[in-house]
Amino acid sequence: MHKSLIEVAKEEVITNPHEIFSITYKNEKYWVKKARATQSKWNHRFFYFLFPFDALIPSESKTGVQCIEHETSKLDIFRAHGINTPAVIYKNDEFFILEDCGETLNTLTRDKSISEEKMYYYMDKLLFELAKIHKVGLYHGGAQTRNFTYKEAKVYAIDLEESFNPNIDIKVLQFRDFTLLLLSFVKIRVNFDLDYNYVIRKYVELSGNKEVLKKLKNIANKTSFLIYLSELKFIKKVLGSDVKGFSKLLKILKSL
Ligand SMILES: Nc1ncnc2c1ncn2[C@@H]1O[C@H](COP(=O)(O)OP(=O)(O)O)[C@@H](O)[C@H]1O
Ligand SMILES: [Mg+2]
Repeated sequence: MHKSLIEVAKEEVITNPHEIFSITYKNEKYWVKKARATQSKWNHRFFYFLFPFDALIPSESKTGVQCIEHETSKLDIFRAHGINTPAVIYKNDEFFILEDCGETLNTLTRDKSISEEKMYYYMDKLLFELAKIHKVGLYHGGAQTRNFTYKEAKVYAIDLEESFNPNIDIKVLQFRDFTLLLLSFVKIRVNFDLDYNYVIRKYVELSGNKEVLKKLKNIANKTSFLIYLSELKFIKKVLGSDVKGFSKLLKILKSL
């Protein structure tokens, strides 16, 4: 008797130590994501304490079961709005199975020798998908390049597990998304300078979200002291690469 995909996944969930892993079943690739509690991390909370911007609001803590419920129902809502997301093949209280949606944008843009043309090809598609999410009044929650994938000329949104206090304005969460995306762009190391003016204008054009540029400049102008602070050795040591990326982004924004 042949095992079903669900039977195969159930066995792997027990033996595989990873929280998320891929399996191949009948020549098709799938992803299995186990339930796990999310907590806003202490360093994120400290970061937010230093840089109390809406854009860096920490996410809510949830139990494993709540996480599965939140992520799978959000994937379905996204799909219903025409946003590219992996189909939820199966779920129970311990794990869920997703269809494979290709390589992450982080992986694809990590190649140092990537051409400018290719980079902007990916970025345009990524900005298009993020703007689509925002235009229908939704947010991603973890909009870094590692949480978007690319397959057959389409960008997909994955990893929708973050949630926030329901009193927070959707505009704030959308702005947070865009800031997180910019922060992940800052970490890209390529042989040419990324044109942040282009990226921001493209997002504004696609999303119709005109306040973004003003909001970003506002942050940059208010934060000379924080740039100074973030360059102190002690702060750098405690917060690591996140704070370096953030101060780099602030400098870029200041120069726009
Ligand atoms: N449906 C999918 N298609 C392709 N890759 C996926 C998919 N789901 C997860 N992955 C891969 O697994 C990684 C971790 O999954 P993710 O949902 O982002 O979990 P985490 O909360 O641990 O970041 C992703 O960055 C991606 O590389
Ligand atoms: Mg992720």
